[in-house]
Amino acid sequence: MKPLRLLAIAFAAAIIIAPQSAHAGDTDICIVPKPLSITDGEGSFAISSATRISIGDESLRRSAEMFAEDMSMELGGRMTVSDKKSRKSISLNLDQAMESEEYRLEVGRNGISVCGGSEKGVFYALQSLKQLIICASPTNGKAVLQAATIIDKPRFAYRGAMLDVCRHKFTTDEVKRYIDILALHKINTFHWHLTDDQGWRIEIKRYPELTQTGAMRKQTLVGRYRTSKDYDGTPYGGYFTQDEIRDVVKYAAERYITVIPEIEMPGHAVAALATYPKLGCTGGPYEVLTTWGISEDVFCAGSEETFEFIENVLTEVLELFPSEYIHIGGDECPKVRWKACPKCQRRISEEGLANEAELQSYFMKRIERWLNGHGRKIIGWDEILQGGITRSATIMSWRGTKGGIAAAALGNRVIMSPNTYCYIDYYQTEGREAAGEPLANGRRSVTMEKLYSFEPLEGLTEEQGGFIAGVQVNLWTEYIKTFDHAQRMLLPRLAALSEVGWSDRTRDLDDFRRRMRSLRRVYDREGYVYSTYFFDGTDTGPDTEPNNTNQ
Ligand code: ACM
Ligand code: ZN
Repeated sequence: MKPLRLLAIAFAAAIIIAPQSAHAGDTDICIVPKPLSITDGEGSFAISSATRISIGDESLRRSAEMFAEDMSMELGGRMTVSDKKSRKSISLNLDQAMESEEYRLEVGRNGISVCGGSEKGVFYALQSLKQLIICASPTNGKAVLQAATIIDKPRFAYRGAMLDVCRHKFTTDEVKRYIDILALHKINTFHWHLTDDQGWRIEIKRYPELTQTGAMRKQTLVGRYRTSKDYDGTPYGGYFTQDEIRDVVKYAAERYITVIPEIEMPGHAVAALATYPKLGCTGGPYEVLTTWGISEDVFCAGSEETFEFIENVLTEVLELFPSEYIHIGGDECPKVRWKACPKCQRRISEEGLANEAELQSYFMKRIERWLNGHGRKIIGWDEILQGGITRSATIMSWRGTKGGIAAAALGNRVIMSPNTYCYIDYYQTEGREAAGEPLANGRRSVTMEKLYSFEPLEGLTEEQGGFIAGVQVNLWTEYIKTFDHAQRMLLPRLAALSEVGWSDRTRDLDDFRRRMRSLRRVYDREGYVYSTYFFDGTDTGPDTEPNNTNQ
């Protein structure tokens, strides 16, 4: 190679290698979750309703239109989306060389250029741009954005949030709003907990009684589980029709969120047993639970009818949910009934199983095999490790990270969702009751700072770390009756989770606080309800209901 050419290459390499991109914390630009890199540029660009959004690919039209609609309030009008290139526009393009969720967002004097590795990457770029616009405090329909280049992609492929609609049910519109909130935080998976002891919430056409008997409980415990003996005397129930579920799945897909349904087995199944007592070991009668905790009554693992029922249910579930993964629970399954059940004991001896833990493993593996045969894979809570799992099962580690670490050591895919960091049904201040928090689950607190400090790969070797697909927060709703309350538990803690799942390993709480002040403005603008402990040290007061007072 000629020396001059070598020199030119070395010069170009120096430009690339030189630290032209600041760490996201070194700039005034506020985005949560923190992008991979932000480089401040020269000058600024003003967006108004007259700015065009030009799409380089027809597949980007929907996101572009949604963005134009979304920003119309700020800009006092709707930006026009066009497939023609124009100057001083927001241009959206795909770049096959980038990873699917990756994007580059460049604000320059002559417009804004967005490139994504896929439609999803472009969607995430628009979430970041939305934060920039709102935080620029548009005046007279004009938002002036400082020039910058943002290069961004997630650390983990799986970023999830679970919502329990069994203990308390929310409307379809509320579930969609939950999904909107996830999208803002670049969360890509909505885990929908649809069946449990206290209610069956998914319509199954073959078993209409499930959403009559199984979806209704006679009444609900008032106050804290274990200490309270009060009930409200009011029947409670409801379910999602298959049309509503399809609507939610489509709505989520338009926001690049996969919905993973959870159908609980073999435990947390009393709503199903109350409907079909023959599916339990004792034959019942059973009642949909009116209180919380763990029931000793579970699906009978010795009965073929149980498997026939579950497979029929799953057949309809698969039609509704196109997700690669189906969550089949597996947590908190006491073995007392199986120990005393002749059918379960016969199964143990016929299958050559060592004990009831292996019977649970038999149960889960049998359903897994059926799902695999239908092109899907399973996720189960970490209890499914007991008695053995197949290589293709994903473990959702909730009792701390131990289960996740053990599963990763076996080479299984893992989602880290430890209660110690990721259970957002727990109190969110250390002071709890003293801070005026309404009744919440658990004895521990998961503060913003705690969740923000979570390191999903701690305790794992580099090789094991490769099996950690990502992270998730769980919102169980025993003590959460209204969607406002659900939002107060979700926000702002979801922002901390989003940063754990998306951004690099470094944590800077002061910088996070600074950026969260901007995100708070987005929450305000969207009308999201959030708790203010993290921002103000106190809370302005939730919709504390008689049922939600601490006692
Ligand atoms: C769980 O919290 N029982 C998974
Ligand atoms: Zn049995």
